[in-house]
Amino acid sequence: MLLRLPGVYPPQEDTWLLGDALAAEKLRPGSQVLDICTGTGALSLRAAAAGAGHVTAIDISRRAVATTWINARVQRHAIRVMRGDLTAPVRGQRFDVVVSNPPYVPAPDDVLPTHEIARAWDAGVDGRLLLDRICVQAPGVLAESGILLVAQSVLSGVEKTQSMLEEQGLTVEIVARAEIPFGRVLTARAALFEARGLIVAGQCTEEIVVFRGVK
Ligand SMILES: C[S@@+](CC[C@H](N)C(=O)[O-])C[C@H]1O[C@@H](n2cnc3c(N)ncnc32)[C@H](O)[C@@H]1O
Repeated sequence: MLLRLPGVYPPQEDTWLLGDALAAEKLRPGSQVLDICTGTGALSLRAAAAGAGHVTAIDISRRAVATTWINARVQRHAIRVMRGDLTAPVRGQRFDVVVSNPPYVPAPDDVLPTHEIARAWDAGVDGRLLLDRICVQAPGVLAESGILLVAQSVLSGVEKTQSMLEEQGLTVEIVARAEIPFGRVLTARAALFEARGLIVAGQCTEEIVVFRGVK
């Protein structure tokens, strides 16, 4: 049971898919795990519960940071919670596992929301404003042989994620997939996505994938 302040992303199918991939990794008391875009802290708590001894959670939203801090204390896990932009708060540090479920929904324009819950999903016209930055920044905070796990929709371009992570020297594969029904936001954008050729007429599901990259 997770507490959640208003405006914080409620854990859902993408969270669980990524959480299962995370729990499948060998997490030990000495493992350093970084959760970028932590929201409620669901993935950080999953890492801690799976055995990781050192978990750091980052989010740009003050409410998400407060929510994660509260959830960590309620569940009695020692999670370091930091507010900031992607990896900026941990520049120069190295992690064995980096996990991220970033905003990845294609939006009407390239203006990223700075407040409210849309900040949890809107990611520019191609859905990649955060993904592209994570593909560049995350390998830089991975320890040697470290593992990056990232979730995204196929609507935001899986080939680009694959090629960008490979350019950073990672060995990359998709380790999980799930077809999920459109929620409220995607249903409202179905006509826009159809006009852009992202979906076919009448489509009401999207595929979520989890990338696993090894340094
Ligand atoms: C899709 S939610 C994922 C939340 C949680 N990890 C989960 O899986 O349930 C994305 C999160 O990214 C955060 N976020 C958006 N832009 C960010 C940025 N530039 N740096 C750090 N976090 C950001 C949002 O506040 C939101 O909490």
